[in-house]
Amino acid sequence: MTSISAGSKRDEPSNLRFIETSRPVVDESREVVASLSEQPPRLSPKYFYDSQGSELFEAITELPEYYLTRAEAEIFGRHLDEIVEALGVADVIIEPGSGNCSKVLPLLERALPHTFVPIDIAGNFLWEAAKDVARQLPELSVTAIAADFTRDWTFTQAIPAGHRIVFYPGSTLGNFEPDAQRDFITQLARVVGARGAILLGIDLHKDGVTLQQAYDDTAGVTAAFNRNILRVVNERAGADFKPDQWRHEARYNPDLRRIEMDLIAESEDAISVGGQGFVFPPGAAIRTEHSYKFTLEDIQHLAAHAGLSLAKHWLDNQSRFCLALLVPGTASP
Ligand SMILES: C[S@@+](CC[C@H](N)C(=O)[O-])C[C@H]1O[C@@H](n2cnc3c(N)ncnc32)[C@H](O)[C@@H]1O
Repeated sequence: MTSISAGSKRDEPSNLRFIETSRPVVDESREVVASLSEQPPRLSPKYFYDSQGSELFEAITELPEYYLTRAEAEIFGRHLDEIVEALGVADVIIEPGSGNCSKVLPLLERALPHTFVPIDIAGNFLWEAAKDVARQLPELSVTAIAADFTRDWTFTQAIPAGHRIVFYPGSTLGNFEPDAQRDFITQLARVVGARGAILLGIDLHKDGVTLQQAYDDTAGVTAAFNRNILRVVNERAGADFKPDQWRHEARYNPDLRRIEMDLIAESEDAISVGGQGFVFPPGAAIRTEHSYKFTLEDIQHLAAHAGLSLAKHWLDNQSRFCLALLVPGTASP
């Protein structure tokens, strides 16, 4: 079970509570050894994110090729009133993978929850983002939780009761494998309970060129983001990768409807982690990310699996991205 501690920091605003859950190096290294032993070797995309990785992701969202963030913002810009009305009472807004918290701000300002709960694995980045929100909205209570949401959800005990809304934007759901997507939505359904709802930002299946470019920009920011995973794994799991010896590759797999992101060894990298050695010869690949793309039907199936239904959805003007409202219960015929 994860241990939880309420941290107190020097410049904490009075409306901010910061909760840290423990992530022992031994657990991380065991996990890394297991995933590097798979064929093909893998690393979980959660290792992209320390403060530097979160900053690189922020830079990705501003790239001309990365349409996802702009499309999602366009939906918010055009439909915010309708979205807030459809949500109904929102006492608590919970955002797993909250990043810089920029997307949730308009929602917080209009839906007026009493508490906002950002949850993110990148603890220091979360601290800064949560502090900004707490300062901008002094009437709001902010309970920021630094946690790995792929582990147990014991931290939900820190989330106040009431009508809970989970806001899960950015198509982060697509980084899970299909089984894990279903488990995650089921977990979110449990968190919101019978009176809540989930507002899900989902990237839609589209032509492969647009998708491939979104994950392989000409400025090389996604490449830097991808390589950063090795630095984070070195730090968190005690590995000794040489990030500069690896290059970025991304392609769209239309059959599985997913972006596949790899790191390719340009020269041999012999590493050790958790007491185990791995030798990556030139040309060896490590799979670092899948980013699944969805159809509306996929979203309906995911919702149904968790005992939810797709109550409403909004698209950007080019139908590239979808904001979906999932509510408890089965869809009416
Ligand atoms: C693709 S970014 C999305 C950020 C932001 N929500 C947005 O839409 O722009 C994924 C976010 O999820 C966080 N994250 C990834 N894996 C996580 C995990 N296992 N537990 C908690 N947070 C995680 C990352 O730190 C990052 O902030």
